[in-house]
Amino acid sequence: MALKVQLSDKVYWLGFNDRRKHLFENQWPLEKGVSYNSYLIDDEKTALIDTAEAPFSGDLVAWVAELLNGKKLDYLVINHMEPDHSGAIKDVVSAYPDVIIIGNRKTSPILEGFYGITENFMTVADGDTLKLGKHTLQFFMIPMVHWPESMVTYDISDKILFSNDAFGSFGTLNGGIFDDEIDLDISCFHEEVRRYYSNIVGKYGAQVQKALAKLSGIDIKLIAPSHGIIWRSEIPYIIDKYHKWSTHEGEPGVVIIFGSMYGNTEKMADYIARFLVEAGVKQVKVYDAAKTHASHIINDIWKYKGVILGSCAYNGGVFPPMAHLMSDIEHYGLKDRYLGVFGSASWGGGGVRAINKFAENIKWEVVGEQFEARCAPKDSDIELCKNLANAMTARLLY
Ligand code: FEO
Repeated sequence: MALKVQLSDKVYWLGFNDRRKHLFENQWPLEKGVSYNSYLIDDEKTALIDTAEAPFSGDLVAWVAELLNGKKLDYLVINHMEPDHSGAIKDVVSAYPDVIIIGNRKTSPILEGFYGITENFMTVADGDTLKLGKHTLQFFMIPMVHWPESMVTYDISDKILFSNDAFGSFGTLNGGIFDDEIDLDISCFHEEVRRYYSNIVGKYGAQVQKALAKLSGIDIKLIAPSHGIIWRSEIPYIIDKYHKWSTHEGEPGVVIIFGSMYGNTEKMADYIARFLVEAGVKQVKVYDAAKTHASHIINDIWKYKGVILGSCAYNGGVFPPMAHLMSDIEHYGLKDRYLGVFGSASWGGGGVRAINKFAENIKWEVVGEQFEARCAPKDSDIELCKNLANAMTARLLY
């Protein structure tokens, strides 16, 4: 029996919780799982909006059939071709061979490339509409949020925005489907929606800004993304966050990330954290780059304005997990952060040198005096930790 929830009269959520997959896109840890949300509109003409990842195609087809109760599926709207949403297309087409597939001019080559489907395709352009009966759908192109063919579908009648990856989140839907049915902090959606944004969509901030501008004139009562919670009561919250995240606005907090083999760099990270709090910074996070997956660290770097990187030296360079993290940050092109730099070296050094190179590339403002302790930190190094914490606090708070 279908697990279905009504969004409005004749509009249904058909969602699937994936708690078995360990890594989204085979790289992002899914400690809290992920959901694939598709939606069905059962009007005079029927429409399925997006599908799900391939393992759920059997259930999706069965649930659509159950809901339609003998009616045919007229349209399949493809907002996005990435296989986490398109994986069930072939099975849907097999079940409904006459279904008209709706996408844009960039959708069709990817549809053919992945699934060999070329027939019954209807191309829509920005602003085009499609009448289903009481419901009329309107399509808006939002390229690179998250692929070139990405678009959103707006139900003009019920004011529902089917937003695909935009406004989506990691995390399964554990009973609560709408944002006001659950505590978003306890269920971690406030964290997971930013982790999804920063790691999946964050590279495309300029395109997110264009999408927000394009959608700004639309009256939205529900945002129904293809992953995670449906936004109903917190629509201004999530739109405001998308504005801030896409323009790289940071909150006055500090993320300290260290790479440490024998605890000396870690010890200095702890001193810096303490000195920051003593100086008045309320939000301080400390991460071991070797222990915490970079996606969680990047999530916090996207949130906070201050970043302090500390590394031991490793074979004349930086500690490899720190190199990985810095490479990820450069890949996303996150801008406008204050950077503090420290480290330790037993003989040749190299960690601080590599962080400085990163600072040059990323063009963040370096705050305070950088330093590299020799072997174990001495009192003079702890004093430098204090100076760095005070310099960062002054830049953040005053
Ligand atoms: Fe959820 Fe870009 O796919």
